[in-house]
Amino acid sequence: MTERVPVRDDLVDVEPYGAPQLDVPVRLNTNETATPPPEGYLEEVARRIQGLGLHRYPDRPHTALREALARRHGLTPDRIWAANGSNEILLQLLLAYGGPGRLVLSPRPGYAMYPELCRTALTDHVEVDLDERFELSPDVAGAAVARHDPDIVLVPSPNNPVGVAVDHDAIRALHHAGHALVVVDEAYVEFAPDGTSVMGLLEELPRLVVVRTFSKAFRLAGLRLGYLAGPSWVVDDVQKVRLPYHLDALTQVAGLVALEQEAAFLDHRELVASERDRLTTALASFDGLEVFDSTANFILVRSTIEGLFDRLLEHDVLVRDFSDRPRLQGCVRVTIGTPEENDRFVAALRAVTDES
Ligand SMILES: Cc1ncc(COP(=O)(O)O)c(C=O)c1O
Repeated sequence: MTERVPVRDDLVDVEPYGAPQLDVPVRLNTNETATPPPEGYLEEVARRIQGLGLHRYPDRPHTALREALARRHGLTPDRIWAANGSNEILLQLLLAYGGPGRLVLSPRPGYAMYPELCRTALTDHVEVDLDERFELSPDVAGAAVARHDPDIVLVPSPNNPVGVAVDHDAIRALHHAGHALVVVDEAYVEFAPDGTSVMGLLEELPRLVVVRTFSKAFRLAGLRLGYLAGPSWVVDDVQKVRLPYHLDALTQVAGLVALEQEAAFLDHRELVASERDRLTTALASFDGLEVFDSTANFILVRSTIEGLFDRLLEHDVLVRDFSDRPRLQGCVRVTIGTPEENDRFVAALRAVTDES
């Protein structure tokens, strides 16, 4: 008797994706916000969920949440769609517009989940190299689209893990050089200077989709809530691949309350920006360390120290290791934490450099 069913051929050697979740005193590896949601938030959510009839399925089109998000962006609700984190939004887009015979183009370096999502959705994937400053010029962007003729272009802006935002003219070039759905993944945009978002280009670029998350600046990574803003036909199409009732009633309420308290939720961003500047300056003072300017809540650092990730871990600091990734040799990414956590990171780095 055969006891085991073979997994899909392309999954045989696959390791489940995910940064290590280690129980370490200083965890700066997954780009969450270090400070919890504002005071009173959980109390209000607790109050509001009393009225939910959990014996019934949730509101499938999550109408109230979409209306609130639509108001936030000056759009109509038929142009908004939410799901369990922006990763689920990206997967739904790939299921709807990718698939066998279709192609995704994304920048390299880029968000490490994109190849995983493409594989899951049985979609081919090619990358276009960012330049040495991790920027994408409109010329390179347009040429890559003209050459590969992708069906979907996936662009993280600001980019994870490099922290650089993509120029609006490069987005225009990606859009105009072909016929692709251009998906700009703005997971970190609330940390970037005003004007970074391409939300304002939605009217100009008819195949543009903007993806956002509550996991980063909105301090709700534990909630699993993300959304897209785009043309209404995209919202119609993703509903063909979504699971019924995919967004549970508790998440819908928790998201609504967060939007009502938006100002309090986002008021930590000045601290993140000043800590990012402080950390960038501190890191720049280390010999042999290359520090990349970031507009997000993390910083990419390149070093010649062998095994930097493990050695920081020995000093109780967990960062994200990218040292064996193409274009990122020797790099680790550190999330901006509390001032104390950032100090501990710098002290650990100092100790590791002194030992080297
Ligand atoms: C660029 C980018 N996009 C999307 C996500 C996914 O975020 P979530 O699924 O938590 O919304 C992340 C998370 O790290 C990210 O870095």
